[in-house]
Amino acid sequence: MSDEADLRRDAPAFHRNVAPIRALLLEWLDGRRGDVLEIGAGTGQHAVAFAAALPDLRWWPTDPGAAQLDSIEAWRAHGGGANLEAPFILDASVPDWGIEKRGLAAELSAIVSLNVIHISPWRVSEGLFAGAGRYLAAGGLLILYGPFCRDGVHTAPSNAAFDADLRRRDPDWGIRDIADLERLAAGHGLELRRIEPMPANNFTLVFGREREG
Ligand SMILES: C[S@@+](CC[C@H](N)C(=O)[O-])C[C@H]1O[C@@H](n2cnc3c(N)ncnc32)[C@H](O)[C@@H]1O
Repeated sequence: MSDEADLRRDAPAFHRNVAPIRALLLEWLDGRRGDVLEIGAGTGQHAVAFAAALPDLRWWPTDPGAAQLDSIEAWRAHGGGANLEAPFILDASVPDWGIEKRGLAAELSAIVSLNVIHISPWRVSEGLFAGAGRYLAAGGLLILYGPFCRDGVHTAPSNAAFDADLRRRDPDWGIRDIADLERLAAGHGLELRRIEPMPANNFTLVFGREREG
């Protein structure tokens, strides 16, 4: 067995959520060109699947964790297409994502982040929206997937239990409220365009950066 194969991690949830998320991404991103930055790409399994589904886009997976980066790179080497770029370290909470050093212009077609902002402090949400305001092209999209509250209310009892468990593990973690994210978005020139209910009491949120002119 090669070292690369050893480093591939498997997220069980990936197998359950990849098809519905891919369908939504196709709806919003098919026909677009340019670069997509994935924040908190984890194992890298979504990056491989989404890059394959959207061959006209260049997919850039990132994560702050070294083990995650190894897994992403191993999945990429195993079955990544030509439009799947090498992963790099990125902590969304820092103000400067340094993407220009990677040859990326601050004109991204989209930023995609799945299951990240409830398992990280609020400053990561702040950094994500600040980065979207800074690095998305006019008309670019920020697409978030995961569990969310609506007007302070959990959308299912299982999400309330999950939220309590997250906060027990780290008081700075927790399921975010869509209204709070909308406020954050507005401060960075983004507006909420779609709230799509997904299986297992999750949602996909699509934020758009305002077009110029
Ligand atoms: C639950 S995992 C989700 C992984 C993958 N997106 C998925 O859905 O399978 C959360 C991910 O968020 C990443 N993460 C945590 N803090 C982060 C930060 N400050 N900036 C970017 N990603 C972060 C973790 O390293 C981890 O890979």
